Amino acid sequence: MISIFSRAHHRPASVPFYDVGMNREEALEILYEFTKSEGLRKHALAVEACVTAYARKAGGDEEQWAVTALLHDFDWEIHPTLPDHPVKGEPLLAERGVSAEIRRAILSHANFTGVPRLSQLEKTLFACDELAGFITAVSYVKPHRSVFEVDAPSVRKKMKDKAFARSVNRQDILDGAQELGVNLDEHISFCVKAMQDRAEALGLKGGL
Ligand SMILES: [Fe+2]
Ligand SMILES: [Fe+2]
Repeated sequence: MISIFSRAHHRPASVPFYDVGMNREEALEILYEFTKSEGLRKHALAVEACVTAYARKAGGDEEQWAVTALLHDFDWEIHPTLPDHPVKGEPLLAERGVSAEIRRAILSHANFTGVPRLSQLEKTLFACDELAGFITAVSYVKPHRSVFEVDAPSVRKKMKDKAFARSVNRQDILDGAQELGVNLDEHISFCVKAMQDRAEALGLKGGL
């Protein structure tokens, strides 16, 4: 049983117990515990890169947004079928002290849960999820497998290619940008830049 006290050592002593939230390192521990696939770990990190870039832009709580992004698919390997993911993962996160706000955001990234996306965090997570996956896929087919070779026009072009990265839902990318209220090309450029800034950790730096 993870209690608030066992998490407290990650925080400065001056922070009162009731104010302790999960930090990025703790979220990473949970992610790595449940997710063994390198690709899925990288997906979590890619979504985190995009979501936290938006946190800085929108004045969101960067750590909270990072935790949400890192954990949004944490249960995919143990719950490979919908709607088990993310519905059955949610109580596991609650047990580990993940806040209700974050758990709600995670539930809202899947349309079928019926949890509407209301907060800025929820809209941002949805807008970045499929797009981050798609930008990764586009990077992989570039000569140096690098995200530095990707830009908005090349992403838009690949979005029209139905045979390419078929598992990525194009409509979710369009809907996500619209719900967030951002221009699609600007959104793509913003996420590409966010992933370039973390290219090394994402394994997308290129250089053969
Ligand atoms: Fe998911
Ligand atoms: Fe995802």
